[in-house]
Amino acid sequence: MTHYVVTIDGPAASGKSTVARLLAERLDAVFLDTGAMYRAVTWAALEDAVDFDNPERLASVINAHTFAFEPAAGVMKTFVDGTDVTNSIRDPELTANVRHVAASETMRARLVEMQREFAAQHGRVVTEGRDQGTVAFPDAAVKFYLVADAAERARRRGTELEAAGAEVELEQLRKVIEARDESDERRAVGPLKPADDAILIDTTRLTIDEVIERMLGSME
Ligand code: DC
Repeated sequence: MTHYVVTIDGPAASGKSTVARLLAERLDAVFLDTGAMYRAVTWAALEDAVDFDNPERLASVINAHTFAFEPAAGVMKTFVDGTDVTNSIRDPELTANVRHVAASETMRARLVEMQREFAAQHGRVVTEGRDQGTVAFPDAAVKFYLVADAAERARRRGTELEAAGAEVELEQLRKVIEARDESDERRAVGPLKPADDAILIDTTRLTIDEVIERMLGSME
């Protein structure tokens, strides 16, 4: 099967997931949420009560469990040892610990392999993450890199959380987002950065539909 891969990278809450999901639909492709892969490994590490400061022990988690990722009606269902963790991996405490997994060279290498396997299996894929255009799929057909002001990203994340019934403190959300940007940008392996040939889109003042139209327009 000929592979057709579109990559979307960018910082936390820049709109990547929503846009990747919709673009996949428009392109009749499958959506790959690579953040969910890092989250699934973090979920398993928390289950095993692994010390996040012990890199060898942490790296062993990926071989001790079975991870599965399945496309389903606009989402990517995520399983650890057959348990559906699609919703539980969004937990804020888990989110705060993903950086330990994201910093591990061993785990990044293994997860990049799984991402390539997913693309090989599904053929047409829109993938989103931090290193998709730079490391996982350097030969992707089209690469996008989304950015947005931290204050706007906090506002969007706040709206999502409020809709889910959570209490929201915007200033606090902005700080959490900025801390994740920093840890994503500064890590030695697979850092957050645009590929040289990525198309940059600032989504701060754009609606989701406008972002999609701009992407489709740039692919014509
Ligand atoms: O996109 P997200 O919020 O679900 O990602 C969760 C974390 O996973 C993010 O802070 C960094 C890490 N990540 C990564 O290092 N590389 C990727 N390709 C995707 C996510």
